[in-house]
Amino acid sequence: MNWSPDTTQVKSWNEWDTLRHVIVGKADDCHIPPEEPALDAKVPEDSDMRGQWGRRPQETIDRANELLDNFADMLRKRGVRVDRPTPTDFSLPATTPDFHTDSQFGCMPPRDVLLTVGHEILEATMSYRCRWFEYLCYRPLMQQYWEEDVNFRHEAAPKPRLTDADYHADYLSEKIGIEKRLKWTAEKFFVTTEEEPLFDAADVLRFGKDLIVQHGFTTNMKGIEWLRRHFPDHRVRAVNFPGDPYPIHIDATFTPLRPGLILNNPNRRLPDEQRAYFNKNDWEIVDAAQPAHNTPPPLCYSSTWLSMNVLVLDPKTVCVEASEVYQMEQMDKLGMEVIPVELRDAYAFGGGLHCCTADVYRDGDCEDYFP
Ligand code: ARG
Repeated sequence: MNWSPDTTQVKSWNEWDTLRHVIVGKADDCHIPPEEPALDAKVPEDSDMRGQWGRRPQETIDRANELLDNFADMLRKRGVRVDRPTPTDFSLPATTPDFHTDSQFGCMPPRDVLLTVGHEILEATMSYRCRWFEYLCYRPLMQQYWEEDVNFRHEAAPKPRLTDADYHADYLSEKIGIEKRLKWTAEKFFVTTEEEPLFDAADVLRFGKDLIVQHGFTTNMKGIEWLRRHFPDHRVRAVNFPGDPYPIHIDATFTPLRPGLILNNPNRRLPDEQRAYFNKNDWEIVDAAQPAHNTPPPLCYSSTWLSMNVLVLDPKTVCVEASEVYQMEQMDKLGMEVIPVELRDAYAFGGGLHCCTADVYRDGDCEDYFP
């Protein structure tokens, strides 16, 4: 059945086929969460966010929402159906029998929470305590899709316990230093332990039959094994990027644009032995252009490499952040039509154009790109 705006259908097998229906996050009530082992190791050591927490300043929330609303409107004008989450009260603590944290996070990057694979949307385990309940913001939509599409599979991965046993104590010291961090990530010694399966949805890239998953701070090997058992018809491949001292979420590191073409962050190169899999199957991996900025905006978790965090609308059309002139130029040279989208003032809320969305429907079927 082809897509029609009048019925709800959930289906998306990859990152590039024509996008018809998407969720765009919201910045409402977003908080900088208090310290917790999960998050602490991931806040850059020189970040202006260290040591402070609480609700983000209202004017920054309003500005981020303005940009997210404009992005949603632009997508709607192009015929894409756009849904939005329902924020909960993020000032409330998150408490389970196993942990307590004094506030939550927000619902800006849906990509971190929701993994769409074919007719299924899977709620990730998550790995930060402050994001444990974030799936609730998407439940009204999941319920609606479930009522309206008989083929929709709504799944949730086992909620993790997130006790201290989930985190390596070595990572919790105040100053580790970049050199040691790089050594540790090269050795695949990450903040999360192998206590129980952990993954964030944004560590997964969908290439039809192949799911490419970053092993790092937010996803452990058991999380990858859990995905392998959960999607028995897929090939689930672990990748890692030794050049990244804070390996969280794959989408500012490795960005497929269309069948056969991937951008790779030049500071976080995929190791040769992992590259071979792509090259053998005629996929070209090119270095992404440099970011246009030297520093991230204030109170931002991410690096300047959100420049390559793009949303592909179809194999010829891509949304790039409007200030990222070098990235836009590179896209143009690669034969893509570029839609500039202003989003930089929303980066602090959890990410860029790919992060702030989650697929509901793209054309196309499950293909094997690595036969
Ligand atoms: N780790 C990335 C960087 O700072 C940011 C990734 C953000 N992605 C996301 N889905 N929230 O370079």
